[in-house]
Amino acid sequence: MINKLIAGIFLPLFFFSCSPSEKQTTSAEEGFTFVFLTDIHLKPEMGAVEGFQMAIDTVNAMHPDFVITGGDLIDDALRASHGRADSLYQLYHEMSGGFHMPVHNAMGNHEHYGYSADPPVDPSDPDYGEGMFERLIGERYYAFDHQGWHFMVLDGTARSDQGGYEGRVEEEQMDWIRRDLEKVDPATPIVLVTHIPLVSVMPQIQHGPLYADNQGTLIMNQQEVLAPFRNMNLKLVLQGHLHALEEINLMDRVRFITGGAVCGYWWRTPDNSDLQEGFLQVKVVGDDFTWKYIDYGWNTGISSRP
Ligand SMILES: [Fe+2]
Repeated sequence: MINKLIAGIFLPLFFFSCSPSEKQTTSAEEGFTFVFLTDIHLKPEMGAVEGFQMAIDTVNAMHPDFVITGGDLIDDALRASHGRADSLYQLYHEMSGGFHMPVHNAMGNHEHYGYSADPPVDPSDPDYGEGMFERLIGERYYAFDHQGWHFMVLDGTARSDQGGYEGRVEEEQMDWIRRDLEKVDPATPIVLVTHIPLVSVMPQIQHGPLYADNQGTLIMNQQEVLAPFRNMNLKLVLQGHLHALEEINLMDRVRFITGGAVCGYWWRTPDNSDLQEGFLQVKVVGDDFTWKYIDYGWNTGISSRP
């Protein structure tokens, strides 16, 4: 088991090419700041509109260069009727227009329309799966550059043969990742964004060292997804989905950060919870970065654990 892990994860990552001697001077010497807001779970109920507005106001007061969202923007399209899903997307579209800076959205499992609907949605419906997101929000995987850094946003949710969703990057998207990286200088710092995590210790923390989680918790073809980055300068992987805050620093080269949740525990976070509703602030200088978790002050008034 350990040998398999080492061979499968750590050895490939060990060969990532970003030794100090290869560090390049980027145009980001002055630095820039961005925020990562994941797992918003916006809906008209539970005070979520007021909570999200508080998060937006907090972000605007911080003046980051841009916002990245980490998926689970709405709650939800997986099971909802077409009308409910559409209205939630419209609500998100309207409210996210309140950010005073560009917003780069990532798609979460809860944005995939119809995967768990009852009665079932016909897969030929153009809004099925990723269709509604693409129609109302934009591309579900794409890249952009900012001050010498390359950002890649993935959609790591796929339809499961057993029904519902699973963590997997499909072949079409894998082809895009490989093609996109061909255009990137190996020394360029890269940030990868994925709702469903590629790497996390949360299943082991919660259930023990030998626990193997279900197909919806992590991206199952993680090794295939990370392989094209082996000789690139992957610095940071921003993840959501688990409503947990963790940082995994692998070989002091790649950091995997699961970014808490704007909604905390689905807008029910107790005052004494380990995780408060919040988001990440990331400050980049040169080809390095620091981060902190911003508790934007939402309080449900619940004092016992969920
Ligand atoms: Fe979530």
